[in-house]
Amino acid sequence: MKRIGMLTSGGDCQALNAAMRGVVKTVLANSKENVEIYGFLDGYKGLIYGKFQMLTGRDFSGILTKGGTILGTSRTPFKTIQDPDENGLNKVEAMKQTYYKLQLDCLVILGGNGTHKTANLLREEGLNVVTLPKTIDNDLWGTDMTFGFQSAVNIATEAIDCIHTTAASHGRVFIVEVMGHKVGWLTLNAGMASGADIILIPEIPYDIDKVIDKIEERDRTGSRFTIIAVAEGAISKKDAKLSKKEYKEKLKKRTHPSVSYEIAAQIQEKTGREVRVTVPGHMQRGGSPCPYDRVFASRLGSEAGKMILDNQYGFMVGYKNREIVRVPLEDVAGKLKMVAPDASIVQEAKLLGISFGD
Ligand code: F6P
Repeated sequence: MKRIGMLTSGGDCQALNAAMRGVVKTVLANSKENVEIYGFLDGYKGLIYGKFQMLTGRDFSGILTKGGTILGTSRTPFKTIQDPDENGLNKVEAMKQTYYKLQLDCLVILGGNGTHKTANLLREEGLNVVTLPKTIDNDLWGTDMTFGFQSAVNIATEAIDCIHTTAASHGRVFIVEVMGHKVGWLTLNAGMASGADIILIPEIPYDIDKVIDKIEERDRTGSRFTIIAVAEGAISKKDAKLSKKEYKEKLKKRTHPSVSYEIAAQIQEKTGREVRVTVPGHMQRGGSPCPYDRVFASRLGSEAGKMILDNQYGFMVGYKNREIVRVPLEDVAGKLKMVAPDASIVQEAKLLGISFGD
């Protein structure tokens, strides 16, 4: 008998179900042993408090195209995972107890950065863990791509496409704020895909005067409108010089709801131009996975299934140079994959005339 525990943790994204389906289909179709699948509900919480559902192959049928996660998810921050819960429960010990009580052979954990830190901790504690890289942010180290990312690029691109037509009609400056947490992958890709004129990402701090220069240059050359794709984590050159603590303090005092509104106010004040802000927000994480993500997540899931059949644990299934690879969990945990300011994609974008406000 093979007993497999499975959970999805952190912010959801498209293709979580496709990835789990990939794992289960591969194991069920190729295992010589009987297989039991324990689906833990709402992320690590399910593992901590022993909340699970027994699942069969049928539960994974018809979910390839379904967004969200059939298991539910939650944020269980790594920062506090080793602190006792409100009733004094040791969460790490509780997870181990659930694992051993159910006599699990392994855990399949789908998640992003925080999730991988906890997954690695469980590995260090002796549990058999296989992970799959999910997140619309694409900021997970050890893999060129995470699933969810391409679907989110599609949605953010469509949002900017829609804004393009109205911006052109009114001759306005439009800011579209794109998700991505502390990195700019999503904004960079959606911005390039939708022909944004200015792209502001956390990795390349901006100077508001350079942003305005670009708007005015467009004006002079007869373009009445400007589209600015702003990452939610974008930061000005001035703010980038602050210490982490000082920046946090500044954010606490910020009167604008986000960086985009701050930039909009500055452009409006300095140029007198009409500026509008659009924030697609969680739409970027919702709906069906795009075909790319369906295939990609299925491939990653299939490799995870193969690892379970081979009893190979302690790895994240990643994607490097167009190949599916196994990356040791200890190499992944705690590292962020950021856009290099001199990456070729950035240089190419600059050659296309896109301003990064630097
Ligand atoms: O990590 C995915 C993500 O959507 C980020 O892009 C964003 O900063 C964050 O999650 C939002 O988190 P929440 O859904 O908890 O508001």
